[in-house]
Amino acid sequence: MKKINFLFFLSIIILSPFIPIDAQPSIIKTNIPTRPLGQTDVLELTTEPIPNVRIAFIGLGMRGPGAVERMTHIPGVEIVALCDVLEKNTQKANAILEKRGLPKALEFHGDTSVWHKVTALPNVDLIYIATDWKSHATIGIQAMKYGKHVAIEVPAAMTMDEIWSLINTSEKTRKHCMQLENCVYDFFELTTLNMVQQGLLGEVIHGEGAYIHGLQPYWDQYWDNWRMEFNEKHRGDVYPTHGLGPVCQAMNIHRGDKLNYLVSLDTKAIGNPAYIKEKTGREVKEFRNGDHTMTMIRTEKGKSILIEHNVTSPRPYSRMYQLTGTKGFANKYPTEGYALDGGEIDSKIAANHENLTAHSFVPEDVKKVLMEKYKHPIVKDIEEKAKQVGGHGGMDFIMDYRLIYCLQRGLPLDMDVYDLAEWCCLIPLTEISLDNNSAPVEIPDFTRGGWDKLDGLKFAQ
Ligand SMILES: NC(=O)c1ccc[n+]([C@@H]2O[C@H](COP(=O)([O-])OP(=O)(O)OC[C@H]3O[C@@H](n4cnc5c(N)ncnc54)[C@H](O)[C@@H]3O)[C@@H](O)[C@H]2O)c1
Repeated sequence: MKKINFLFFLSIIILSPFIPIDAQPSIIKTNIPTRPLGQTDVLELTTEPIPNVRIAFIGLGMRGPGAVERMTHIPGVEIVALCDVLEKNTQKANAILEKRGLPKALEFHGDTSVWHKVTALPNVDLIYIATDWKSHATIGIQAMKYGKHVAIEVPAAMTMDEIWSLINTSEKTRKHCMQLENCVYDFFELTTLNMVQQGLLGEVIHGEGAYIHGLQPYWDQYWDNWRMEFNEKHRGDVYPTHGLGPVCQAMNIHRGDKLNYLVSLDTKAIGNPAYIKEKTGREVKEFRNGDHTMTMIRTEKGKSILIEHNVTSPRPYSRMYQLTGTKGFANKYPTEGYALDGGEIDSKIAANHENLTAHSFVPEDVKKVLMEKYKHPIVKDIEEKAKQVGGHGGMDFIMDYRLIYCLQRGLPLDMDVYDLAEWCCLIPLTEISLDNNSAPVEIPDFTRGGWDKLDGLKFAQ
């Protein structure tokens, strides 16, 4: 018997390379459409300076009017058109202009296709889109075709087709297509980015980000129930850009590194279907979006990223924002702090720096001095005004200010269409991974060969 067993195991060992066990699932490939002939990338796209930027807003629900208000505080901006399905929303936005002593803008309202008239207006330089997720890309593409730059709320695109269409249209028309990702302009994130770029954290090897925000107070305020409906129909991280954007910037994604593949894992859905049942009595047969979704990404240069999504559990708000470097660590939620090797801290900053180790966060007074020293140059310029105008504590104003600053000078924008693509592609690609037992899914090089042409992220000045 012993001999038979021995022969059995020996034959398994000898034959094992030939047994077709799919022990290493292959990566799910994604399609990269060929770049049309004569079309080139829009990396560091420069355009004709526009000293007086004429803006049309499309989508004036909960988010849009705040942007209208913020833009009234930026010199060299003219708000010429306001568009929403609902007349009461365009009227409310015009009241903001009136209150600020500015001329009223043209109003467009009535149905979901009235925006066509706005993208066709001749006297508009920038279309600012804050409609629901489903219409973002369609409006953005049409606006670029009519010769306008576009700024689109997050997430700007929901499918791979939409992402590639935005890229192709921006490349073909040479118009800016920027996603309005405000979280990269938060004070802690900008300061930390500056620390990373000055080498304080060493090489950043791992990053984390998230959107963890119970949306129960908002669900019934979204126009036409678009947000819950999207969650009901789609599994995966449907809102990844707030978490992923700041991490990608710190890792110079498509400016020396690129996202290679992701794997995603989720829980079952409990919170949102229960909410629907409680509010409407409807029993949801299949609610696709799990309560908690985790996605891991590996980059070409061997770095890792963890992104999470949860809009239903009773948890404190968190975008996580965490960077692990070879010499230091930054963390925003729930505790904002830095941990650094003692040797990394200038003795002028902390007299007892030799005693500091990365085993705990630096003391509050050291953190304060560090944050002042590494304040990002673009924050130095505008901090006071940003805090006064506001918008998530000021970051929304910095985003709008930078958009206008660059357009007025013809400079490349801080975020290009490839950032938009990389940060949005988690929406369709995590769904593919989850529907295939968390299989790895390839993340395409949206620059189609240009990912290491640029040497790191630089904000134009
Ligand atoms: N960056 C951030 O911090 C942040 C915060 C909140 C919302 N957002 C984003 O802003 C966008 C809008 O969110 P919201 O909370 O204002 O939603 P909302 O439902 O309150 O507003 C959407 C508005 O778009 C209008 N609309 C829809 N389709 C239209 C069309 N075809 N033409 C014209 N108007 C149309 C609706 O009438 C509604 O007023 C979303 O993409 C959301 O993710 C971003």
